[in-house]
Amino acid sequence: MAKKNIAVLVSGGGTNLQSLLDSQEKGMFGESRITCVVSSKPGVYALQRAKQHGVDAFVLARGDYPDIAAYSKALADFLSGRQIDLVVLAGFLTIFDEQMFERFPYRILNIHPALIPSFCGKGYYGLHVHEAALAKGVKVSGATVHFVTPECDAGPIVLQKAVEVREDDTPESLQKRIMEQAEWILLPEAVRLFCEDRITVKDGRTYIQ
Ligand code: GRF
Repeated sequence: MAKKNIAVLVSGGGTNLQSLLDSQEKGMFGESRITCVVSSKPGVYALQRAKQHGVDAFVLARGDYPDIAAYSKALADFLSGRQIDLVVLAGFLTIFDEQMFERFPYRILNIHPALIPSFCGKGYYGLHVHEAALAKGVKVSGATVHFVTPECDAGPIVLQKAVEVREDDTPESLQKRIMEQAEWILLPEAVRLFCEDRITVKDGRTYIQ
C-alpha cells in the first residue's frame, strides 16, 4: 500500500476539511498525508484550519483566470506539480472542466449533502440542496461520497449514509444534522478506503474490498 499525497480543495468554512485533519491525526490514513489545501476564494476559514494543522495552504482564485479551461489547467498543473495522488473536494464551489478528470481519473472524491441521484446536479449546492429536499417532503436525506467525472454529481458512488428528516426542519437544521451524522464520518472513511487501495471502479460502479 503506497503512501498517498492528498490535496483538499475548499471554498468556505471547511468543516469537512476539519474532519479530515482530525482523522489524519488519529492515524486513519496510515502513512498517507494531506499535503496541501487549495481554496478557490481568499480569506476563507478553511485556510486557517489548514495552517493550524501545519498543512500548506494556497489560494487559486477563479477570478484570476479568464475562463474555466484556463482555471482547470492551472489547478491540474498545480496539483500534478505537488505529486498529488488523491484530490478531495470538501465544499469546493468552483467548476472545473474535464482536464481535471483526465489528469486525475477516479482520483477525485466529492462529498454531496444528499442521497444521489436525488437533489444533485447543476444548481444543487449549499442550502439549495436542503431546501429542495424539504420542498419535496422526503423523510430521509443524507450524504454521498462519489468520484468526480465530467458530468456533474454523476460519477461512481463510493459511500452513502441516510439521515432522518424531521417535520420541523429548516434547511439550516437539516444541513447541520447531515454534516454531523453523515458528512464528517463518510468523507474520512472514503479517503481511508482510497488510501488503502480498497476501491475499484468497473462499469460506472465502485466495489469495495
Ligand atoms: C458541505 O455541505 C458539503 O457537502 C458541500 O459543501 C458544504 C461544505 O461545508 N459540498 P464545509 O466548508 O466543509 O464546512
